[in-house]
Amino acid sequence: MAAQIIDGKALAARVKAEVRAEAEQLRAAGTYPCLAVLLVGDDPASAVYVAGKERDCAECGIESRMLRLPADTTQAQLLCHLARLAADDGVHGILVQLPLPAQIDPQRVIAAIPPQKDVDGFTPVNMGRLLTGQPCFVPCTPAGCLAMLQSTGLSPAGRRAVVVGRSNIVGKPMAALLLAQDATVTVCHSKTQGLAELCAEAEILVAAVGRAGFITGEMVRPGAAVIDVGINRSPGGRLCGDVDFAPAAQKAAFISPVPGGVGLMTRAMLMKNTLRAARMARQV
Ligand code: GUN
Repeated sequence: MAAQIIDGKALAARVKAEVRAEAEQLRAAGTYPCLAVLLVGDDPASAVYVAGKERDCAECGIESRMLRLPADTTQAQLLCHLARLAADDGVHGILVQLPLPAQIDPQRVIAAIPPQKDVDGFTPVNMGRLLTGQPCFVPCTPAGCLAMLQSTGLSPAGRRAVVVGRSNIVGKPMAALLLAQDATVTVCHSKTQGLAELCAEAEILVAAVGRAGFITGEMVRPGAAVIDVGINRSPGGRLCGDVDFAPAAQKAAFISPVPGGVGLMTRAMLMKNTLRAARMARQV
């Protein structure tokens, strides 16, 4: 059996087209959706991601305010920028690109983002709301993964889902989302014993490990839906995910590719969250 490829590019294009149309309506009504992005230091991957967000904003009719700050920026200086953006009614979404340089405590910084502008969904308030099933900003990567899963028509209800990775950005919120969809969720990580066997039982497998080829073909259950969150470089320098794609695609029913998968959906979901923040700001 060869899996059906989940086309992240097409899905993301659809989401962004919807955002663009709604942003136009908002602008016509006098609200100009605006996202502020703070990048501290010169991590090359972060620079690429932030440039992508800038392009997405332009494409969606969302204003972007990019603050590129030097690597020796202090935590106090960053908090000062955040306080200014928090108080600015013209800014609807605020995103601080991670990772931050060592002198800055990311939790302290994230907590300084007003929950109503937290389009990453990383603040304790939004995380807590997600866990307790209240309306919130859902972190963009897991939101994108769920949309991809939903595009297959497969319902998570009652199914065994395995999330490999327990980060605050992906693994934990992904588990919460799947649980909210009534899946039976197992979260695996570096200390998990029998990880391969657990994965091989998963009807839904989400890989967010950060290691090329970590999920082998044997770890994929026949007929599974496999969502690959990894963005890695193969030894040959090619962009690849966490899943050994060709053998996994032989066994899965649905699989997301890298590139052309979750990464594009993450970016589209950020646009969706920013639009929502702008819409919400009109209603207060
Ligand atoms: N770094 C890697 N992924 C993300 C993300 O989704 N949001 C932010 N702010 N930083 C990241």
